[in-house]
Amino acid sequence: MCGIIAYTGNQNAAPILVAGLHRLEYRGYDSAGIALHSRGKLHVHRAAGKIAQLENKLPAKLSGKSGMGHTRWATHGEATDANAHPHTSQDGSIAIIHNGIIENAGMLRTRLEAEGTIFNSDTDSEVLAHLISKQSADTLIQSVQHVLTLIQGTYGLVVMDANRPGEIIAARNGSPVIIGLGNKEMFVTSDANAILNHTREVVHLDDGELAEINPKGFSIRTLDATEMVRSPITISSEFESQDKGKFPHFMLKEIHEQPEAVERTIKGRLDHRFDTAHLGGLNLSARELLDIRRVKILGCGSAYYAGISGANMIEQLARLPSSAEPAAEFRYRNPLIESDTLYIVVSQSGETFDTLAALREITRKGGRVLGINNVVGSTIAREVDGGIYMHAGAEISVASTKAFSCMLACFMLLALQLGRVRDLSPQQGKELMQAIEQLPSLIEEALTQENDIRSLAAEYCTAKSAFFIGRTNAYPVALEGAQKLKEVSYIHAEAYPASELKHGPLALIDPDTPTVVVLPDDNLLDKSLSSLQEIRARKGPVISITNANDPEIKRLSNAVIKTPRCHPLLFPLVMGVSLQLFAYYCAIAMGRDVDQPRNLAKSVTVE
Ligand code: G6P
Repeated sequence: MCGIIAYTGNQNAAPILVAGLHRLEYRGYDSAGIALHSRGKLHVHRAAGKIAQLENKLPAKLSGKSGMGHTRWATHGEATDANAHPHTSQDGSIAIIHNGIIENAGMLRTRLEAEGTIFNSDTDSEVLAHLISKQSADTLIQSVQHVLTLIQGTYGLVVMDANRPGEIIAARNGSPVIIGLGNKEMFVTSDANAILNHTREVVHLDDGELAEINPKGFSIRTLDATEMVRSPITISSEFESQDKGKFPHFMLKEIHEQPEAVERTIKGRLDHRFDTAHLGGLNLSARELLDIRRVKILGCGSAYYAGISGANMIEQLARLPSSAEPAAEFRYRNPLIESDTLYIVVSQSGETFDTLAALREITRKGGRVLGINNVVGSTIAREVDGGIYMHAGAEISVASTKAFSCMLACFMLLALQLGRVRDLSPQQGKELMQAIEQLPSLIEEALTQENDIRSLAAEYCTAKSAFFIGRTNAYPVALEGAQKLKEVSYIHAEAYPASELKHGPLALIDPDTPTVVVLPDDNLLDKSLSSLQEIRARKGPVISITNANDPEIKRLSNAVIKTPRCHPLLFPLVMGVSLQLFAYYCAIAMGRDVDQPRNLAKSVTVE
């Protein structure tokens, strides 16, 4: 959510900033801007809309060897040119870009306006530029440091002063800031992905820290001016090109990448000698795994839905009471933290604020937390006691697809390992391992239905509203299917446990409201068929996603999408793929901006 890039060195900064903004665009895309330091002045260019709109507005010749760029996801104030970052002080000497929210901005603004300051935007961030320019400290870092003691809220912040060429101040509280070390040049970003083509040597700022950066180096201090020594780390992941290849959208590309992505998740993690999974990053001995009495999973959006499915897998295989909860709600209900509960925070980006806040609440209360994350070195990955990396590769499309599947694969591996230290037999372990190993080819097979799903989507995309239903482990698949459809096609979609339909939502079933039914071939198939009967009796169209061969399904459905048969705990990974394709093709048929849906952002780093 919102992207930060800054540069200081010997090169022309503008192309570096613009290229960095393109790599950050998936994080926020309602407006963008850059500021360049040239001939004693900060030159600011901003535009509402995508980066391309900013590029159209940029003068042909831009000079400046240091500068900053920002891509925005609006919190305070609409997406307009004036609200785009960078924001400047009244005399133009200070420019800032900010991710996060300043909670006491209203009060600070009133005070500044009473003193005669004229504001140019509706944003909370602008107060920072004015406050910094009013300080009279000897150094810029001291001025920023003082201002940060006046504000409440979260920030990933970059500040430049027209009178200090080549100097950048960065600060962090709750929103990531990474310094990239080059050869006589330095970078600052909120997402390492934006600078990996320049350098792999990075330093992460921690909350409550500021950094003073110039082309030759950097120094870090805390808000109370304690100097910190931090050695750079090398990011090992390859620089992944952000190109769509033969696909028209990242979402479709990432859907098709799932066989390889899931293969990477499971690679090297199945131990055939002992018929179990081996997850080295857990940092838990078999004895500690055995002492776990309960599992609690926390995440947001698709990560939360993956968590519901993960809880089912763990409860089934390890016979441990397991549940999932939206991370955002957790910390506000003063949760009981138990030493024999294993807490798991799930997040593709590893930066989602609400998930991070839940992790910190549990850690504060002495709980043990594992992370399931994709982005190596992300804040959550660095703060957990242990974890499992998904290895899904970069996910650029805002709607999560391959990360969701890889989260499920991680849960399956964890459930297997937890099960094998309990009463899951070697034979059961072996069968599960074989089933897990088949996942990439099963997903491949599910993808072959693409053309049929495209035709189906063309038929149903005009629906105003749709229901998604499923029982037990099919319910999180229904939740994720509904989420995908609303995110990218803007069709209103609701998911229910199939059994709940008759307790309310049935009132809304009519010939214009399709229901997508997730129908695995399990011992609840007959019960699910009763739900189909109830819908058909109200003339509601039924689309069944199924791997069962029962002829009743065809009789009771208007359309059937067949998926390959698989282990009863693994169908969410396989059927999820069909629902992703359905959402994608509905969005295409409606002419939507699939990769960057309205109002959303990839990584939500504000509360
Ligand atoms: C945002 C995205 C969702 C994502 C959620 C959690 O809301 O739009 O697609 O599922 O954040 O993201 P995370 O990075 O924590 O998995």
